[in-house]
Amino acid sequence: MTDANRWVVIPAAGKGRRMGSELPKQYLPLCNRMVIEHTLERLLLHPGIDGVYLALDPRDPHWETTEYAGHPDIVRVSGGDERAHSVLNALEALQQRADPGDWVLVHDAARPCVRRSDIDLLISEAGKHPVGGVLGVALHDTLKRTDESNHIEATVDRRGLWRAFTPQMFRLGELFEALSQALAAGVVVTDEASAIEWAGLRPRMVPGHADNIKITQAEDLELASFFLQRQLEN
Ligand code: CTP
Ligand code: MG
Repeated sequence: MTDANRWVVIPAAGKGRRMGSELPKQYLPLCNRMVIEHTLERLLLHPGIDGVYLALDPRDPHWETTEYAGHPDIVRVSGGDERAHSVLNALEALQQRADPGDWVLVHDAARPCVRRSDIDLLISEAGKHPVGGVLGVALHDTLKRTDESNHIEATVDRRGLWRAFTPQMFRLGELFEALSQALAAGVVVTDEASAIEWAGLRPRMVPGHADNIKITQAEDLELASFFLQRQLEN
């Protein structure tokens, strides 16, 4: 399947409740642009990508104000109640045009700092794997498990533990089946890999860089701005 196409799905239909701003976080300003414009630039301009499916709130009034509104390689679809539903809607639309064996990279709109070199690494490493892969970083800190009053119960062995980021890259057909069946079974799906794992498949982790943060709270914007500026200098 060396001639499989590669597509990107970007869930961007969230409200950003933990950010606590009126404007959803994907539209907040970051280094002279909007968060989502940085994210899109990194994936849309990547030469290995054939098209982008963007899940937006159907009543979203902000998208039209971005520099990528009307871009010919972006297909807009309706988001759902949770992230997994937004992703599933995009996969459903993509299926009308793509083959089940095509690769899909799912990437959060709220991760604007993903490096081009990490996307390249994911494409090459996950592309060699029968199932696919997930960008992330191995844990370095000592881990503690506590009770409800924060008293330490145990030190957790960190060997083999990772933080899972996005993009996550899988075959379109397998991801669609896994995600729709996991959701139908009431499984909590926080990322694509958890649905794939639930289906009994074993993707691999691909070691990326820790600056691929998800903007979640207000202080993350400052950190993202620092990371973007530093990336520009290198
Ligand atoms: N997302 C989505 N559809 C949803 C919920 C989230 O497409 N129903 C998207 C968000 O826009 C974001 C990504 O999934 O790009 C990761 O989700 P998260 O960081 O949780 O964003 P929000 O849900 O917007 O934030 P919060 O959970 O704080 O409300
Ligand atoms: Mg959320």
